[in-house]
Amino acid sequence: MADKLIIFDTTLRDGEQSPGASMTRDEKLRIARQLERLRVDVIEAGFAASSNGDFEAVKSIADAIKDSTICSLSRANDRDISRAAEALKGANSGRIHTFIATSPLHMEKKLRMTPDQVFEQAKQSVRFARNLVGDVEFSPEDGYRSEMDFLCRVLEAVIAEGATTINVPDTVGYAVPELYGEFIRTLRERIPNSDKAIWSVHCHNDLGMAVANSLAGVKIGGARQVECTINGLGERAGNCSLEEVVMAVKTRRDYFGLDIGIDTSHIVAASRMVSQTTGFVVQPNKAVVGANAFAHASGIHQDGVLKARDTYEIMRAEDVGWTTNKIVLGKLSGRNAFKQRLQDLGVTLDSETEINNAFAKFKELADRKSEIFDEDILALVGDESVTAEKEQYGFVSMSQHSETGERPHATVVFTVEGKEVRTESDGNGPVDASLKAIESHIKSGAEMVLYSVNAISGSTESQGEVTVRLQNSGRVVNGVGSDPDIVVASAKAYLSALNKLQSKADRVAAQG
Ligand code: KIV
Ligand code: ZN
Repeated sequence: MADKLIIFDTTLRDGEQSPGASMTRDEKLRIARQLERLRVDVIEAGFAASSNGDFEAVKSIADAIKDSTICSLSRANDRDISRAAEALKGANSGRIHTFIATSPLHMEKKLRMTPDQVFEQAKQSVRFARNLVGDVEFSPEDGYRSEMDFLCRVLEAVIAEGATTINVPDTVGYAVPELYGEFIRTLRERIPNSDKAIWSVHCHNDLGMAVANSLAGVKIGGARQVECTINGLGERAGNCSLEEVVMAVKTRRDYFGLDIGIDTSHIVAASRMVSQTTGFVVQPNKAVVGANAFAHASGIHQDGVLKARDTYEIMRAEDVGWTTNKIVLGKLSGRNAFKQRLQDLGVTLDSETEINNAFAKFKELADRKSEIFDEDILALVGDESVTAEKEQYGFVSMSQHSETGERPHATVVFTVEGKEVRTESDGNGPVDASLKAIESHIKSGAEMVLYSVNAISGSTESQGEVTVRLQNSGRVVNGVGSDPDIVVASAKAYLSALNKLQSKADRVAAQG
């Protein structure tokens, strides 16, 4: 029987650390449900001690998700570890993931600790965590840039204290595949009790090699857990991408010889959900989940694929869930059909009120757009007005006028804590005028660092999906809005970003 490769998803923790990608508890829960549907083995739900919001998110995921192990990150101290254990109480299977930096640079400059102090703290933390839960993962942060002798000493000690998984992060994305693979192999060979733990790889993508490095850690190093995120979301250039690593191991089973428990048919839906929730658009040529990943434009390729699809395709589009781009519903579709489609798409709304809100939104959209695609439905349930969460600002309506030779003008009606406000402004273009109208009332003073428009389902008949990234007092948030009218989508995205700016609690940075 082949070994199993454990898939550890950290979209909700390391992915969320990407500036602007912070998610609300409900958003995290929705994504966790999709990860469970994907049959991800371990879901790192957050960093419970970093904020009350993250504690609540980890707790609700631990309470709701039953088929995956739920994990919380924690620094190597008793307070963080107790907080993680507390948040994980309701889990069927819970894991504490504790970490401390072990590279000379991090120990000296960041922690200001001696190697002996780090050694003691690592040992004590794992001992403390093992008294609370049976499943403890230990990560030597910046492990790949750590000295081999010291790392062996620390890892041998934490395994002796009961760490069940040892994760070796390439925190800054410095590794190259062969060397990283050999690094893991050397650790496993030199540490006498290495067979008492499962070895895990955790690679960042700064040099574009996170997936290659992770796979080398598996193939050369013998690691049996890969830490990854949907769409490769993560700080800087991101983390190892789940969809790529999973499809590589599955498609090249002849080479890797490993089993994987993932239900790949939910990959595209997961990718869309993460992209729509965070506002991080997936590049069209992204492997597996990019819009062009299975599109053949050249005549030679099209001809080949029509004759025999494997001439140019090594995976089947439907195996990763690319069958959803079809007309599913229209104006005459009823609530039951809508509810069923939500279920097929793997969306669970938490209450009848949320389903009713979503259905009302769907009807509104179907009045304006005859063909409703799955992408439209996913965008619609991502809309804040659907969920029961009370937001500070809500979009109501708008009108705008633009004509060649005239300065565009917009009037926007929106709610502030439930009360309607009407504001107007002119601007360089209709979008600029609408956002200025909103800002003239709210006066957030936030700087816009990104504005992007994307057609949800390809054509000009599609809904526009707008991402607005705002920065204020060192915080960065993304707001997403969708509507067939891109000016309205822009106003919704702007209000959504302002809501996030308003609610984002201060967090302790995991790697700070
Ligand atoms: O990249 C990293 O080192 C991490 C650790 C906290 C595991 O994310
Ligand atoms: Zn990381």
